[in-house]
Amino acid sequence: MFFERHGGGERAILVHLDGQDPEAREDPQEFQELALSAGAETVAFVSVPRHRPTAKYLVGSGKVEELRDLVKAEQVDLVIFNHILTPSQERNLERVFECRVIDRTGLILDIFAQRARTHEGKLQVELAQLEHMSTRLVRGWTHLERQKGGIGLRGPGETQLETDRRLLRVRLRQIKARLEKVRSQREQARRGRKRADIPSVSLVGYTNAGKSTLFNAVTASDVFAADQLFATLDPTLRRLELDDLGPIVLADTVGFIRHLPHKLVEAFRATLEESSNSDLLLHVIDAHEPERMAQIEQVMVVLGEIGAQDLPILEVYNKLDLLEGVEPQIQRDPDGKPQRVWLSARDGQGLDLLKQAIAELLGEDLFVGTLRLPQRFARLRAQFFQLNAVQKEDHDDEGVSLLAVRLPRAELNRLVSREGMQPSEFIEQHTLQ
Ligand code: GTP
Repeated sequence: MFFERHGGGERAILVHLDGQDPEAREDPQEFQELALSAGAETVAFVSVPRHRPTAKYLVGSGKVEELRDLVKAEQVDLVIFNHILTPSQERNLERVFECRVIDRTGLILDIFAQRARTHEGKLQVELAQLEHMSTRLVRGWTHLERQKGGIGLRGPGETQLETDRRLLRVRLRQIKARLEKVRSQREQARRGRKRADIPSVSLVGYTNAGKSTLFNAVTASDVFAADQLFATLDPTLRRLELDDLGPIVLADTVGFIRHLPHKLVEAFRATLEESSNSDLLLHVIDAHEPERMAQIEQVMVVLGEIGAQDLPILEVYNKLDLLEGVEPQIQRDPDGKPQRVWLSARDGQGLDLLKQAIAELLGEDLFVGTLRLPQRFARLRAQFFQLNAVQKEDHDDEGVSLLAVRLPRAELNRLVSREGMQPSEFIEQHTLQ
């Protein structure tokens, strides 16, 4: 491994640039939470008015001196900027401060590195880190003495930096090849589920909305949830049985945040790909969060970026337990379709309504019910078995088969019309409308 993650508890100064443009401004509260998530111990939070960003240090030289004194006085290990720094700005600042400096992208990458749980997630993080680092390689490595021996590592006259660059390229190629492999395995699994006609549902939402908690509550499994940003980095898939509908696959995905650097969105494409291939998205929203409208908008922007904006969405207003006088409920659009569910993932109220709403939305094109097939329709009966659509079979006293089936409505129509019949002539009982 090239880049070892530093241990937690590093003493850090946070530098926040307070611009006038509210659009471009980062949220100081979110910044502090991000730093905490990365395991930094904030010893000072410095807010700098950003009137004229400078090319050399981003902030003015007076501010740089002030920060340098603070770094010395507080003996910090790290200065974190809540903005993107160019590699040379990072380098210049490190020279003056004589400690490590990272920017917003570096900070988010560090959090991703700590949260990645699956093999694929770890590879993605390493790839993003290496790509981020490759532009910054000069820094930190040239201060070091040139490598003395390094048998087998370098050719004649090659400097440490060239060796590092070469190793970096090799590692980048290896990771890309492995990622391709993991992705194609994932794609195969996804196709398998499609063939088996198991609908897939993805949880999406702003970070900290409660996706992992909801995922755990619904699947009663034990996914790591913490009161930290990005508790989820990898999509975690679980199979789940819904009454009236049958199995579905539920995917938990990474939380979206404002101003996620674009190349990170790219790096985590596969994580989000799961969402763009879903039959239904559950957009989890923290109903208790004053900024929720802005967060909803951000999530919609990211969904647009991954081409998932036109998928059916069910809004899940979570954290109902923190609100006064709101009951768990399903809100419907004028056509009667579920549009929003109010619930609490923490105490479980409204979870049954969520399952009902999912079943209604996914069941729209699915027939789930019992068919009555007299013996002369043996061929039709065999076709249902071939399609794996039969959940149970009984026979009545006259030997008529009572088939409990689950299959797309269009498929049912097709099979039945081949016999010159209408589905209604066979339907004994309907479960879904
Ligand atoms: P990321 O992984 O960062 O995207 O977060 P997430 O959306 O998966 O959020 P997570 O499930 O980790 O929950 C974030 C915080 O909200 C945790 O402290 C949860 O305990 C809390 N939380 C989740 N659901 C509820 C709820 O229904 N009520 C209350 N009061 N808190 C909740």
